[in-house]
Amino acid sequence: MLRLIAIALYVGCASVLLTACSSTPQAVPFATQRPTQTPFPATATSEPLWGAARGQVLFNTMQPEAGFACATCHYPNSDRRLIGPGLKDMLKKAVSYGIGQTLQDYLHESIVTPDAFIVPGEPPYPTGLMPENYADIFSDADLKDLIAYLMTL
Ligand code: HEC
Repeated sequence: MLRLIAIALYVGCASVLLTACSSTPQAVPFATQRPTQTPFPATATSEPLWGAARGQVLFNTMQPEAGFACATCHYPNSDRRLIGPGLKDMLKKAVSYGIGQTLQDYLHESIVTPDAFIVPGEPPYPTGLMPENYADIFSDADLKDLIAYLMTL
């Protein structure tokens, strides 16, 4: 009996340790990017958010229809790959791919039709990894604010 309890405790501790370790990297973008815990949409008592500030909240908000927040897959403040590419300095990146659109149009296309252009990467990004239903989830105003936020990175 005592042996069973000892094993149970050992397994329990190991899984707690494992959980702690594996959740650490994912915690980083949220910890560094969430400016406040203000519920979204902003409550009547707080200042309504607009533009890039509202875009930042959208970026960090879990969208149940997509299954993720943008921040689940993208570091906003780095070039490093998370699941998708880091989104820092998008103008420089877009120029390096030789896109023939304005940055706003490229970002809009990247969000609503992610497979229209697959970002070069090693190993290559597969098609269909980024959710393809953002045009249904976000209004035009949401997209404008998200793009405004991405352009500040
Ligand atoms: C499940 C992971 C995932 C989620 C969630 C996700 N993306 Fe992506 N995203 C990717 C992958 C993978 C790529 C690269 C492949 C491609 O080009 O489609 C990408 C590419 C991009 C690009 C192009 C980046 C570049 O270097 O040109 C932008 C911009 C972008 N995503 C923005 C967003 C925004 C904004 C959201 C939230 C509305 C979002 N993504 C949600 C995985 C994701």
